Amino acid sequence: MGSPGGNVAELKNPGPRSGTLVSSVDGFAAAKAAGMKIVMVTAYDTWSARLLADTPVDCLLVGDSAMMVVHGEKDTLGATTELMAMHTRAVVRGAPGKFIVADMPFLAARKGESHALDCAATLLRAGAHAVKIEGAQGHTHVIRHLVESGIPVMGHLGLTPQWVRGLGGFKVQARDAAAAGQLREDAAALELAGVFALVLECIPQGLAREVTAAVRVPTIGIGAGAGCDGQVLVLHDMLGLNPDFRPRFARRFAEGAALVRAGAVHFAEAVRSGEFPTEGEGF
Ligand code: KIV
Repeated sequence: MGSPGGNVAELKNPGPRSGTLVSSVDGFAAAKAAGMKIVMVTAYDTWSARLLADTPVDCLLVGDSAMMVVHGEKDTLGATTELMAMHTRAVVRGAPGKFIVADMPFLAARKGESHALDCAATLLRAGAHAVKIEGAQGHTHVIRHLVESGIPVMGHLGLTPQWVRGLGGFKVQARDAAAAGQLREDAAALELAGVFALVLECIPQGLAREVTAAVRVPTIGIGAGAGCDGQVLVLHDMLGLNPDFRPRFARRFAEGAALVRAGAVHFAEAVRSGEFPTEGEGF
Protein backbone atom coordinates (compact mmCIF):
# COMPACT_ATOMS: atom_id res chain seq x y z
CA MET A 1 0.00 0.00 0.00
CA GLY A 2 1.19 3.54 -0.70
CA SER A 3 1.42 6.37 1.79
CA PRO A 4 -1.89 7.72 3.10
CA GLY A 5 -0.98 11.23 1.94
CA GLY A 6 -0.37 10.03 -1.59
CA ASN A 7 -3.61 8.10 -1.60
CA VAL A 8 -5.71 11.06 -0.58
CA ALA A 9 -4.02 13.17 -3.26
CA GLU A 10 -4.92 10.46 -5.75
CA LEU A 11 -8.55 10.64 -4.67
CA LYS A 12 -8.62 14.38 -5.26
CA ASN A 13 -7.06 13.98 -8.67
CA PRO A 14 -8.08 10.63 -10.11
CA GLY A 15 -6.60 11.51 -13.51
CA PRO A 16 -7.94 9.69 -16.54
CA ARG A 17 -10.57 7.88 -14.47
CA SER A 18 -12.25 11.17 -13.63
CA GLY A 19 -15.49 10.91 -11.72
CA THR A 20 -14.33 7.87 -9.73
CA LEU A 21 -12.73 7.78 -6.32
CA VAL A 22 -10.97 4.45 -6.61
CA SER A 23 -8.49 3.94 -9.39
CA SER A 24 -6.07 1.52 -7.74
CA VAL A 25 -5.90 -0.94 -4.85
CA ASP A 26 -4.49 1.85 -2.66
CA GLY A 27 -7.51 3.96 -3.47
CA PHE A 28 -9.77 1.55 -1.58
CA ALA A 29 -7.93 2.11 1.71
CA ALA A 30 -7.75 5.82 0.99
CA ALA A 31 -11.49 5.97 0.37
CA LYS A 32 -12.14 4.35 3.75
CA ALA A 33 -9.67 6.69 5.48
CA ALA A 34 -11.34 9.69 3.84
CA GLY A 35 -14.86 8.44 4.64
CA MET A 36 -15.77 8.30 0.96
CA LYS A 37 -18.28 5.59 0.05
CA ILE A 38 -17.10 3.09 -2.56
CA VAL A 39 -19.56 2.29 -5.35
CA MET A 40 -19.27 -1.02 -7.18
CA VAL A 41 -21.61 -2.58 -9.71
CA THR A 42 -21.41 -5.81 -11.68
CA ALA A 43 -20.74 -5.84 -15.41
CA TYR A 44 -20.46 -8.80 -17.74
CA ASP A 45 -20.20 -7.40 -21.25
CA THR A 46 -18.81 -4.62 -23.37
CA TRP A 47 -21.92 -2.56 -24.03
CA SER A 48 -22.89 -2.15 -20.38
CA ALA A 49 -19.26 -1.56 -19.37
CA ARG A 50 -19.06 1.17 -22.02
CA LEU A 51 -22.16 2.84 -20.55
CA LEU A 52 -20.72 2.57 -17.03
CA ALA A 53 -17.26 3.76 -18.09
CA ASP A 54 -17.93 7.46 -17.65
CA THR A 55 -20.23 7.25 -14.64
CA PRO A 56 -19.10 7.95 -11.07
CA VAL A 57 -19.22 4.21 -10.27
CA ASP A 58 -15.77 3.42 -8.82
CA CYS A 59 -15.32 -0.20 -9.65
CA LEU A 60 -16.80 -2.89 -11.91
CA LEU A 61 -17.19 -6.44 -10.64
CA VAL A 62 -17.19 -9.20 -13.22
CA GLY A 63 -19.22 -11.39 -10.90
CA ASP A 64 -19.87 -15.07 -11.33
CA SER A 65 -23.49 -13.95 -10.89
CA ALA A 66 -23.13 -13.81 -14.69
CA MET A 67 -24.16 -17.47 -14.59
CA MET A 68 -27.57 -16.53 -13.18
CA VAL A 69 -28.09 -13.06 -14.61
CA VAL A 70 -26.76 -13.57 -18.13
CA HIS A 71 -26.79 -17.33 -18.64
CA GLY A 72 -30.05 -18.08 -16.84
CA GLU A 73 -28.70 -20.74 -14.47
CA LYS A 74 -30.08 -21.22 -10.97
CA ASP A 75 -26.74 -20.70 -9.22
CA THR A 76 -23.16 -19.61 -9.90
CA LEU A 77 -21.50 -23.01 -9.76
CA GLY A 78 -21.16 -23.41 -13.53
CA ALA A 79 -18.68 -20.54 -13.90
CA THR A 80 -15.24 -21.57 -15.15
CA THR A 81 -11.98 -19.67 -15.33
CA GLU A 82 -12.29 -19.46 -19.13
CA LEU A 83 -15.83 -18.07 -18.94
CA MET A 84 -14.86 -15.51 -16.29
CA ALA A 85 -11.86 -14.50 -18.41
CA MET A 86 -14.11 -14.05 -21.45
CA HIS A 87 -16.53 -11.82 -19.52
CA THR A 88 -13.56 -9.93 -18.04
CA ARG A 89 -12.06 -9.21 -21.47
CA ALA A 90 -15.45 -7.96 -22.66
CA VAL A 91 -15.78 -5.60 -19.67
CA VAL A 92 -12.21 -4.33 -20.02
CA ARG A 93 -12.86 -3.50 -23.70
CA GLY A 94 -15.86 -1.41 -22.69
CA ALA A 95 -14.35 0.31 -19.65
CA PRO A 96 -10.56 0.26 -19.94
CA GLY A 97 -10.22 3.09 -17.41
CA LYS A 98 -12.22 1.48 -14.59
CA PHE A 99 -10.88 -0.60 -11.72
CA ILE A 100 -12.10 -4.10 -12.55
CA VAL A 101 -12.43 -7.03 -10.15
CA ALA A 102 -13.09 -10.54 -11.50
CA ASP A 103 -14.63 -13.37 -9.48
CA MET A 104 -12.59 -16.53 -9.02
CA PRO A 105 -15.03 -19.31 -9.97
CA PHE A 106 -16.43 -22.11 -7.80
CA LEU A 107 -13.68 -24.13 -6.04
CA ALA A 108 -10.84 -22.20 -7.71
CA ALA A 109 -9.39 -21.30 -4.30
CA ARG A 110 -9.91 -24.81 -2.90
CA LYS A 111 -7.57 -26.78 -5.15
CA GLY A 112 -4.36 -25.41 -3.71
CA GLU A 113 -2.10 -22.47 -4.29
CA SER A 114 -0.88 -23.47 -7.73
CA HIS A 115 -4.36 -23.88 -9.20
CA ALA A 116 -5.52 -20.60 -7.63
CA LEU A 117 -2.45 -18.81 -8.96
CA ASP A 118 -3.12 -20.09 -12.50
CA CYS A 119 -6.76 -19.03 -12.32
CA ALA A 120 -5.95 -15.58 -10.94
CA ALA A 121 -3.19 -15.12 -13.53
CA THR A 122 -5.69 -15.90 -16.31
CA LEU A 123 -8.10 -13.29 -14.94
CA LEU A 124 -5.40 -10.65 -14.52
CA ARG A 125 -4.09 -11.35 -18.03
CA ALA A 126 -7.67 -10.85 -19.23
CA GLY A 127 -7.41 -7.33 -17.81
CA ALA A 128 -8.76 -7.55 -14.25
CA HIS A 129 -6.93 -5.48 -11.63
CA ALA A 130 -7.91 -7.85 -8.82
CA VAL A 131 -9.78 -11.05 -8.09
CA LYS A 132 -12.55 -11.73 -5.58
CA ILE A 133 -12.60 -14.94 -3.57
CA GLU A 134 -15.58 -16.13 -1.54
CA GLY A 135 -15.18 -17.52 1.98
CA ALA A 136 -12.21 -17.82 4.30
CA GLN A 137 -12.04 -21.00 6.35
CA GLY A 138 -9.66 -23.52 4.82
CA HIS A 139 -8.18 -21.25 2.15
CA THR A 140 -6.80 -18.11 3.81
CA HIS A 141 -3.31 -19.51 3.09
CA VAL A 142 -4.21 -19.56 -0.62
CA ILE A 143 -5.36 -15.93 -0.44
CA ARG A 144 -2.13 -14.98 1.35
CA HIS A 145 -0.10 -16.77 -1.36
CA LEU A 146 -1.91 -14.84 -4.11
CA VAL A 147 -1.42 -11.53 -2.32
CA GLU A 148 2.27 -12.30 -1.76
CA SER A 149 2.48 -13.12 -5.48
CA GLY A 150 1.28 -9.61 -6.35
CA ILE A 151 -2.37 -10.44 -7.00
CA PRO A 152 -4.77 -8.10 -5.22
CA VAL A 153 -7.60 -10.08 -3.60
CA MET A 154 -11.02 -8.85 -2.51
CA GLY A 155 -12.68 -11.05 0.13
CA HIS A 156 -16.36 -12.01 0.32
CA LEU A 157 -18.17 -13.18 3.48
CA GLY A 158 -21.75 -13.73 4.61
CA LEU A 159 -23.95 -15.15 1.90
CA THR A 160 -21.29 -16.66 -0.35
CA PRO A 161 -23.29 -17.96 -3.32
CA GLN A 162 -20.69 -20.60 -4.22
CA TRP A 163 -21.66 -22.30 -0.92
CA VAL A 164 -25.37 -22.25 -1.79
CA ARG A 165 -25.81 -26.03 -1.61
CA GLY A 166 -24.22 -26.18 1.85
CA LEU A 167 -26.13 -23.11 3.02
CA GLY A 168 -29.42 -24.63 1.88
CA GLY A 169 -30.34 -21.67 -0.34
CA PHE A 170 -29.75 -17.96 -0.77
CA LYS A 171 -30.45 -16.87 2.82
CA VAL A 172 -29.38 -14.13 5.20
CA GLN A 173 -26.29 -15.36 7.10
CA ALA A 174 -24.76 -14.93 10.56
CA ARG A 175 -28.03 -14.32 12.35
CA ASP A 176 -27.08 -16.17 15.55
CA ALA A 177 -24.26 -15.36 17.94
CA ALA A 178 -22.07 -18.31 16.96
CA ALA A 179 -22.28 -17.58 13.23
CA ALA A 180 -21.72 -13.87 13.85
CA GLY A 181 -18.62 -14.68 15.92
CA GLN A 182 -17.31 -16.90 13.13
CA LEU A 183 -17.86 -14.14 10.59
CA ARG A 184 -15.94 -11.66 12.77
CA GLU A 185 -13.07 -14.20 12.98
CA ASP A 186 -13.16 -14.80 9.23
CA ALA A 187 -13.04 -11.05 8.52
CA ALA A 188 -9.98 -10.70 10.78
CA ALA A 189 -8.33 -13.71 9.10
CA LEU A 190 -8.94 -12.25 5.64
CA GLU A 191 -7.50 -8.92 6.67
CA LEU A 192 -4.43 -10.74 7.99
CA ALA A 193 -4.17 -12.68 4.72
CA GLY A 194 -3.95 -9.35 2.92
CA VAL A 195 -7.29 -8.69 1.20
CA PHE A 196 -7.64 -5.05 0.13
CA ALA A 197 -11.43 -4.93 0.55
CA LEU A 198 -14.19 -7.18 1.80
CA VAL A 199 -17.66 -7.78 0.37
CA LEU A 200 -20.27 -8.47 3.07
CA GLU A 201 -23.37 -10.04 1.56
CA CYS A 202 -26.74 -10.47 3.27
CA ILE A 203 -25.80 -10.25 6.94
CA PRO A 204 -27.50 -8.28 9.73
CA GLN A 205 -26.78 -4.54 9.52
CA GLY A 206 -25.43 -4.34 13.08
CA LEU A 207 -22.88 -7.07 12.41
CA ALA A 208 -21.79 -5.43 9.15
CA ARG A 209 -21.30 -2.14 10.99
CA GLU A 210 -19.23 -3.90 13.68
CA VAL A 211 -17.02 -5.68 11.15
CA THR A 212 -16.58 -2.43 9.22
CA ALA A 213 -15.34 -0.73 12.38
CA ALA A 214 -13.08 -3.66 13.28
CA VAL A 215 -11.17 -4.06 10.01
CA ARG A 216 -8.84 -1.53 8.39
CA VAL A 217 -9.82 -2.54 4.86
CA PRO A 218 -13.06 -1.18 3.41
CA THR A 219 -16.19 -3.29 3.48
CA ILE A 220 -18.54 -3.25 0.51
CA GLY A 221 -22.04 -4.34 1.39
CA ILE A 222 -24.88 -5.94 -0.49
CA GLY A 223 -27.89 -6.53 1.71
CA ALA A 224 -25.71 -5.63 4.70
CA GLY A 225 -26.98 -2.13 5.52
CA ALA A 226 -25.64 1.39 5.37
CA GLY A 227 -22.79 0.89 7.84
CA CYS A 228 -20.43 -0.55 5.21
CA ASP A 229 -17.73 1.53 3.52
CA GLY A 230 -19.36 1.02 0.14
CA GLN A 231 -22.17 -0.72 -1.67
CA VAL A 232 -22.37 -3.16 -4.57
CA LEU A 233 -25.39 -4.17 -6.61
CA VAL A 234 -25.89 -6.53 -9.50
CA LEU A 235 -26.33 -4.27 -12.55
CA HIS A 236 -29.55 -5.96 -13.68
CA ASP A 237 -31.10 -5.53 -10.22
CA MET A 238 -29.97 -1.91 -10.02
CA LEU A 239 -31.50 -1.19 -13.45
CA GLY A 240 -34.68 -3.20 -12.82
CA LEU A 241 -33.99 -5.40 -15.82
CA ASN A 242 -35.37 -8.58 -14.27
CA PRO A 243 -39.07 -8.05 -13.54
CA ASP A 244 -39.34 -11.40 -11.69
CA PHE A 245 -36.58 -10.69 -9.17
CA ARG A 246 -37.00 -8.03 -6.54
CA PRO A 247 -34.88 -8.74 -3.48
CA ARG A 248 -35.52 -6.41 -0.53
CA PHE A 249 -31.94 -5.09 -0.52
CA ALA A 250 -31.73 -4.27 -4.22
CA ARG A 251 -33.34 -0.92 -4.84
CA ARG A 252 -34.23 -0.28 -8.48
CA PHE A 253 -32.56 2.90 -9.70
CA ALA A 254 -34.20 2.60 -13.12
CA GLU A 255 -37.10 0.70 -14.64
CA GLY A 256 -35.04 -1.08 -17.27
CA ALA A 257 -37.48 -3.90 -18.00
CA ALA A 258 -40.25 -1.45 -18.88
CA LEU A 259 -37.86 0.47 -21.12
CA VAL A 260 -36.76 -2.67 -23.00
CA ARG A 261 -40.33 -3.86 -23.42
CA ALA A 262 -41.55 -0.46 -24.59
CA GLY A 263 -38.74 -0.33 -27.15
CA ALA A 264 -39.63 -3.79 -28.47
CA VAL A 265 -43.36 -2.93 -28.63
CA HIS A 266 -42.68 0.32 -30.51
CA PHE A 267 -40.38 -1.51 -32.94
CA ALA A 268 -42.97 -4.23 -33.64
CA GLU A 269 -45.74 -1.66 -34.07
CA ALA A 270 -43.63 0.47 -36.41
CA VAL A 271 -42.69 -2.52 -38.57
CA ARG A 272 -46.27 -3.83 -38.79
CA SER A 273 -47.74 -0.42 -39.54
CA GLY A 274 -45.17 0.14 -42.28
CA GLU A 275 -43.87 3.23 -40.48
CA PHE A 276 -40.37 1.67 -40.12
CA PRO A 277 -38.13 1.90 -41.98
CA THR A 278 -38.64 5.24 -43.67
CA GLU A 279 -36.87 6.08 -46.91
CA GLY A 280 -34.24 8.00 -44.91
CA GLU A 281 -33.47 4.88 -42.94
CA GLY A 282 -32.53 2.92 -46.07
CA PHE A 283 -29.81 3.19 -48.73
O1 KIV B 1 -21.10 -12.41 -8.34
C1 KIV B 1 -21.52 -11.34 -7.89
O2 KIV B 1 -22.24 -10.58 -8.56
C2 KIV B 1 -21.15 -10.98 -6.53
C3 KIV B 1 -21.81 -9.78 -5.92
C4 KIV B 1 -23.21 -10.08 -5.59
C5 KIV B 1 -21.08 -9.26 -4.75
O3 KIV B 1 -20.36 -11.63 -5.93
